[in-house]
Amino acid sequence: MRKLDAKTLVVASHNAGKIREIRDLIGPLGFEAKSAADLNFVEPEETGTTFEENATIKALASARASGLPALSDDSGLAIDALDGAPGVYTANWAEREDGSRDFAMAMEKVEKALKEKGAVTPDSRTARFVSVLCLAWPDGHVELFRGEVEGQVVWPPRGTSGFGYDPVFQPTGYDATFGEMTAEEKHGWRPGDASALSHRARAFKLFAETCLGA
Ligand code: IMP
Repeated sequence: MRKLDAKTLVVASHNAGKIREIRDLIGPLGFEAKSAADLNFVEPEETGTTFEENATIKALASARASGLPALSDDSGLAIDALDGAPGVYTANWAEREDGSRDFAMAMEKVEKALKEKGAVTPDSRTARFVSVLCLAWPDGHVELFRGEVEGQVVWPPRGTSGFGYDPVFQPTGYDATFGEMTAEEKHGWRPGDASALSHRARAFKLFAETCLGA
């Protein structure tokens, strides 16, 4: 495992919600984080079929373009009744014909697909959020970290916090959806904490323990 010595890194993302969450997580560790969006980097095409492949594509593109270590996140919602869909295509389900993203529409699509499968009871609507973080260096070295959080898809959507599919995801053991939680509650983690809640915070905890010794 390679340690991260630099205190500046690029957040290899163009997704405002993810950039905000990664900054929240990385801030307390004393990092200065520029994003691929701030640096006007071209968004690479996500041609992989796994979270690991797509995270690697994004992190390497930003590391090579900037000459700095880069941290990416590839994530998505895997729903058991839909055989793991939308999975790596979670962002694509929100895409409109004009290329913009509409998550209210994406959540409706998920609900329609679940109804078509007859998945109406809570125990037939189990799902997990997955986040794979990739830390890449300009020389091509990469380290990968996976975090998952189990829960269920609820309907109708609840809450306006967070981003993406947060209003329809209720983690196991909680009465609130991610959309009803503050950022602190959703992450459930600070450097040195033993536990974390969100998929991204769980992956981030592994990254911090492995590459930073935090
Ligand atoms: P990608 O990693 O860029 O392929 O996009 C993953 C998609 O998954 C995002 O656009 C979100 O819609 C969804 N997603 C990932 N993480 C979260 C989360 O923490 N909350 C809600 N939606 C998420």
